[in-house]
Amino acid sequence: MQADPCMKSRRHLRLPLIAVLAFAAGLRADFQGSTHLMPFDEETLAYSKSPDTGAIARLQRRIDAGEVVLKPDDRFGYLLPVLEALQIPRSSQLLVFSKTSFQRDRISPSSPRALYYNEGVYIGYVSGAPLLEVSAVDPKIGAVFYTLEQKPSAKPRFVRTDNCTECHASAKTMGVPGHLVRSFQTDESGMVDLLTGVDSVDHRTPLADRWGGWYVTGTHGAQMHRGNLVGKAEFDRQEKEPNHAGNLTDLGHYFDPGRYAEPGSDIVSLMVMEHQTHLQNFLTRLGYESKIHLTAYGHVNYLKSATEAFLRYLLFVEEAPLTAPVHGRTDFTEAFVRAGPRDSRGRSLRDFDLQTRLFKHPCSYLIYSDAFTGLPEPLKEKLYRRLHDILTGQDPSEAFSRLTPDLRKEILEILTETKPDLPDYWRHPASDSKR
Ligand code: HEC
Repeated sequence: MQADPCMKSRRHLRLPLIAVLAFAAGLRADFQGSTHLMPFDEETLAYSKSPDTGAIARLQRRIDAGEVVLKPDDRFGYLLPVLEALQIPRSSQLLVFSKTSFQRDRISPSSPRALYYNEGVYIGYVSGAPLLEVSAVDPKIGAVFYTLEQKPSAKPRFVRTDNCTECHASAKTMGVPGHLVRSFQTDESGMVDLLTGVDSVDHRTPLADRWGGWYVTGTHGAQMHRGNLVGKAEFDRQEKEPNHAGNLTDLGHYFDPGRYAEPGSDIVSLMVMEHQTHLQNFLTRLGYESKIHLTAYGHVNYLKSATEAFLRYLLFVEEAPLTAPVHGRTDFTEAFVRAGPRDSRGRSLRDFDLQTRLFKHPCSYLIYSDAFTGLPEPLKEKLYRRLHDILTGQDPSEAFSRLTPDLRKEILEILTETKPDLPDYWRHPASDSKR
């Protein structure tokens, strides 16, 4: 049971469009859990043939034009200059020791893989490995993958590597080229036990199921999780001695943290990444579904349950509640919050709660992202209409009952001031011709 978790090739799955639509219709009620692979390399979506337009494509252009020079250092190669050029905070560092990457042979509990990210790019660094691993968020085609050779070069090149979709496009990424976060029990070497896997970790996953195969630094009270547990004996000990490896602020017991750019694997950074990766995959999926539906039918009316599931995720209504406060690094939270935008009363969707939930105003900050703003107009129109109904209290449905009237009002006010592309009726309800 220790085979590679994702190596099964799905390249033979090239279903005709009509079969996909029929299948999708069958699964509509459960879109969010839908696992079939989208035909992302067929004509309508053309993943591999589409040029990339995200942050890495932009950085490569600046490198080629000589506007940016990346200077590698002896310790981490291109890691730090790349983080700086992409404005990725070092404090986002996460450490994962399960052997779950294509560079798995070099990854272990004493030599975890480090991940760094912001809203547009994720960077994977494995000590001593010849390549940096990169996934970028492309507003049109989803996650795009690259490697960057660590060998010094006058013009370093991010090489687009579409075969990463072998693992990065599957049921675990909503069937689109996407980002992965998983949680496994591992043995002492970091090899995963597939029977214990959580397919896709996001903000709905109970903390008790998260972080198997990851290091976790920060405090979380009596809440249990699977982080920092290496080997079956450690998991067994957890049964008798809850949290014996929880609430850690120093990982020196496991490896030499001095070998990394930062000392820890921050609990809040983990929670943000888990929220973010799933929402980004969901946006890719919605964009792809809309494109297929617009081509086939000329409208997106059949995507109703998909948009409802998306709104439930966007508004955190199924988020796993925190039962004790969570504390991570303040430099991570401060840098994250600083990115704004803020309304005239200083409120931002990026403000943290960390007492009973992740964010204070539970509507994802990714509503400002290019992937959201660039969704096909007919779909965006429907999303805005429903979002407005929910936030103004015109939607009494049980699904959103977790949002109190006060929270709805706050989110409505923040969005109205900070999201420029909202339809007029958001700011001038009298202009709403459809009511
Ligand atoms: C054998 C399966 C596998 C292959 C092949 C693979 N990855 Fe991953 N990757 C994972 C898993 C699983 C994760 C989730 C983190 C973890 O558990 O290590 C991940 C996470 C990542 C992340 C963190 C952010 C994200 O997008 O999930 C990056 C960056 C990444 N991989 C880059 C790459 C690149 C670049 C390639 C191809 C050159 C690649 N990966 C190929 C399994 C794989």
